[in-house]
Amino acid sequence: MNKISDIASLEKDFIDNIFDLTSNIRNKWPKIEQVGVGKTICLLFWEPSTRTKLSFEHAAKKLGFDVLDFSPECSSIKKGESFEDTIQTLLAMKVDGFVIRHPEDQISKKIISMLPEDVFYINAGDGNHAHPTQAMLDVYTMKEKFDDLSTMKLTILGDVNHSRVIPSQIELLKKYSCASINFVGPESLISKKFSPSFSEISKDSLADRDILFILRVQKERFKDDDGLDEAGFIKNFQVNNEFLKNSGFKGFLMHPGPMNIDAEITREAANSENSLVLEQVENGLYLRTALLSLIL
Ligand code: CP
Repeated sequence: MNKISDIASLEKDFIDNIFDLTSNIRNKWPKIEQVGVGKTICLLFWEPSTRTKLSFEHAAKKLGFDVLDFSPECSSIKKGESFEDTIQTLLAMKVDGFVIRHPEDQISKKIISMLPEDVFYINAGDGNHAHPTQAMLDVYTMKEKFDDLSTMKLTILGDVNHSRVIPSQIELLKKYSCASINFVGPESLISKKFSPSFSEISKDSLADRDILFILRVQKERFKDDDGLDEAGFIKNFQVNNEFLKNSGFKGFLMHPGPMNIDAEITREAANSENSLVLEQVENGLYLRTALLSLIL
């Protein structure tokens, strides 16, 4: 397996191996075996990124890869070169593997069809289809707290419809038999396929949940007929002290980032002692190091 487009196409054994190696790397960091020496990886990000791009870059350099940072804005894409010709050009430069983020849903399929067998590929987010490495690092972080995910109770809050993280996360949690996932937020942000869902937070309604996974409103992916009462969203669903007190939630707070402070979450909640936000980021570095060393 050297092409990662989504979670559904991965065997659970492969993910177990990634998780084991992630723990191993976490324990050894920064003394990492340089298994990437002599190989070249290209990072192509058509959309902004802090966590995903820089953790892949950091991981690749730590493994000894040479790293090419392709920026569409400064490339011959601006002179009209096509996506396909860009990939062919980079292949001619003897790139051994690609990490790609792109706004087009499911572009991974097209990319994989363009790549030779021995060139690896990792989807770093395509449209709102999939973000497999974010799902892996999030579920790895959950497993650190609740080894048996079959009994963990997860609530996902906010803009589920425009998230590429959540479809990948649900797919991965299914592989670990997590049975209790529900959704909370305005009806306009949670379509009927995400069930059960709740558009109200009543007293102590989250008292038995283990994890509250909070999502940013992803306005950049709104279509023309998508709408949101932002003031209403903040009043009813912002994760703040009052929300936590009223809902009775006492578990761990997670967020894939980037956070919009004072929109879906306050600074106080994000920095609270039960927040795993920075553990997620740190685990992302170890997990992407593990993944690169398994698929090169
Ligand atoms: N969660 C995530 O993908 O963050 P970045 O956009 O910063 O990579």
